[in-house]
Amino acid sequence: MDSILVRGGAELSGDIPIAGAKNACLTLMPATLLSEEPLTLTNAPRLSDIRTMTELLASLGAEVTQLQDGQVLAMSSHDIHNRTADYDIVRKMRASILVLGPLLARCGEAKVSLPGGCAIGARPVDLHLRGLEALGARLDLKDGYVHASAPGGLKGAEIAFPLVSVGATENVLMAAVLAKGTTVLRNAAREPEIVDLAHCLRKMGARIEGEGTPDITVEGVDRLHGATHPVVPDRIELGTYMLAPAIAGGTVECLGGRLDLVAAFAEKLAEAGIDVEETPRGLKVARRNGRVRAVDVETAPFPGFPTDLQAQMMALMCTAEGVSVLEETIFENRFMHAPELMRMGADIDVAGGTATVTGVGRLKGAPVMATDLRASVSLILAGLAAEGETRVNRVYHLDRGYEHVVRKLSGVGASIERVHGE
Ligand code: EPZ
Repeated sequence: MDSILVRGGAELSGDIPIAGAKNACLTLMPATLLSEEPLTLTNAPRLSDIRTMTELLASLGAEVTQLQDGQVLAMSSHDIHNRTADYDIVRKMRASILVLGPLLARCGEAKVSLPGGCAIGARPVDLHLRGLEALGARLDLKDGYVHASAPGGLKGAEIAFPLVSVGATENVLMAAVLAKGTTVLRNAAREPEIVDLAHCLRKMGARIEGEGTPDITVEGVDRLHGATHPVVPDRIELGTYMLAPAIAGGTVECLGGRLDLVAAFAEKLAEAGIDVEETPRGLKVARRNGRVRAVDVETAPFPGFPTDLQAQMMALMCTAEGVSVLEETIFENRFMHAPELMRMGADIDVAGGTATVTGVGRLKGAPVMATDLRASVSLILAGLAAEGETRVNRVYHLDRGYEHVVRKLSGVGASIERVHGE
């Protein structure tokens, strides 16, 4: 398994291009199942998760052609000859569940393996299933699969989510666009990835209003036509690279970054003493002189502080002046990076969903282990500021969500390389 070596101490300077959003692409790709006509995505990120979704869609009969080194995904689902999403693909990536709603809406039936949990939590899909049942689907759980059918088609309904779920909002929204009549989603997720999905579906002929607010209204249509759509920039990759100069010092311009995608996060950086400035090319981030100040963080659904940036923010707080309290409210086990940061000399006390971080002057490089996607990159960020060498093992987690990390960080002066393992 490969690992990444980081030698800390270099101040950073230069530009980092921000790619298209993984979590937008993973819901935009299944949308191709809703139409017989081609759907083309541009600004697509080159990631292993995208390759996994490509494999899944191909297993259903869709054609997915990667053009321009994977930045363009030309998809066509003219013939769907298989309506089963197999466990051996779904277990690799839980976002596979997002083919359920589109398959049901287009074909009237679907058999999708339950995704199972993952390192950060149980991550059930009950809200996805209850939403689809409200649209008239019949669901049976057998042998670890969801057997879904709607022979007479789906019917619009009013659906109030008991808690905000990004995936459930996406699955039910995609099913509703071909349902008969009106669907209203209440307490819908407001993430930019959902807004991006709604924009793409509208280009395909869907009738949607209210995306980005808690209430989304859909008027069902008989069919959708093809479209071409650019994937929204990745706000989590953006926030991750905004933290690089914050931790290591220096100034970095994140090309393609948009402040509206990371407003709550940028506010916290400013509170900590980091300058964030909008430029014609993106967001310029610089650490003012002196140590970063400790700030408290509580994760929340968008527009709150993103849970996907909690691990990376903790890395910054490890070297900040003062005590920072981080509350993780979305997932039940998302502090696995804490013990690894403590191996580097961080002072962190974890109690349930609360991590209390007391900043130390300097972290010390050490061999550490990546446990999940966002934890892996928080260890790399910590390594940028640590004394000596940090070796992050199990970086296959990284490849799921970050393209060209070594190239992007070495491009702004970091001393970082990838070491191919046995
Ligand atoms: C999406 O996951 C993202 N993944 C996650 O990013 C992100 O952390 C999460 O949203 C929250 O923003 C993709 O978009 C592919 P949820 P999702 O449904 O949709 C509970 C990354 O690092 N819940 O909003 O699975 C759930 O357990 C990944 O890129 C139910 O109880 O998240 C969690 O506690 C990690 N029942 C909370 O809701 C359900 O049916 C929020 O989950 C669904 C969710």
